[in-house]
Amino acid sequence: MIEFANVSKNYKNGSHALKNVSFKIDKGEFVFIVGSSGAGKSTIIKTILREEVPSAGMAMVNGYNLNRMKRRHIPKYRRSLGVVFQDFRLIPNLNVYDNVAFALRVTNVVARDIRSRVPYVLKLLDLAHKAKSMPDQISGGEQQRVALARALVNNPSIIIADEPTGNIDPELSFEIIDLLSEINSQAGTTILMVTHEHELVSYFNKRVITIENGELISDNRGDESELFTGKELMEDYGRGLVSKEKAIDFSSKTPRALIEEYERQRRVAGGRK
Ligand SMILES: Nc1ncnc2c1ncn2[C@@H]1O[C@H](COP(=O)(O)OP(=O)(O)O)[C@@H](O)[C@H]1O
Ligand SMILES: [Mg+2]
Repeated sequence: MIEFANVSKNYKNGSHALKNVSFKIDKGEFVFIVGSSGAGKSTIIKTILREEVPSAGMAMVNGYNLNRMKRRHIPKYRRSLGVVFQDFRLIPNLNVYDNVAFALRVTNVVARDIRSRVPYVLKLLDLAHKAKSMPDQISGGEQQRVALARALVNNPSIIIADEPTGNIDPELSFEIIDLLSEINSQAGTTILMVTHEHELVSYFNKRVITIENGELISDNRGDESELFTGKELMEDYGRGLVSKEKAIDFSSKTPRALIEEYERQRRVAGGRK
């Protein structure tokens, strides 16, 4: 579904952003791309979005050879992708509902479908009560969920996220990845997410492609059987294996109140000894 075969990219200023990068991502996979700043991660994303074209090698997505794609075919191709960026890129003078609906209106989706699809994704992302709010009236985490709603509303076969958690709190980062993970397992949507948050990546045990200096230096498949759940993390926290901060940071499913209750019970149990 996504294939890079010896892709190199040289920008006009002479920087070699990608050097012989090869990988294959099947339909339904969840893949993290990690690497330090300037490594070439966004260049991979831009190549997939067909904003940049490889200088050498071949990029294929959904059966399209992106090297040869005609300009007039690009809009239709991009409609099969859902995209989320670090800076959200919401339209400031449209409310939450219209930001999401806009993505459909511009592609001539019929009104009836818009009226059913938009409330559905807003509900899915727990944003129904914010439908009439303007982007500057909601939190960063909510703005990022709106961006995700907008990416989802077209029913894309692939979701591409370039550091979507870069501007939000760690707790919310977990929530966003958890949501993506759920979309991935429920709808079979392929997810490609760029991030530099190593703790998040190791927590989720997904496939990780590491890019350094334009080169792919490792491609490790995660072991999903080792996947933590919020409940397991909570148990580990209860046994004193992980810190309270970690339990809070990495489990959106574990409300602060539950952790406080655990603390209380532990104190009670400790007092009984
Ligand atoms: N449009 C561009 N023109 C020239 N050089 C660029 C351009 N975009 C990125 N680069 C350079 O290519 C390299 C990789 O950049 P990028 O893919 O944005 O890395 P990352 O997303 O991993 O931080 C960097 O050295 C960067 O300065
Ligand atoms: Mg980048």
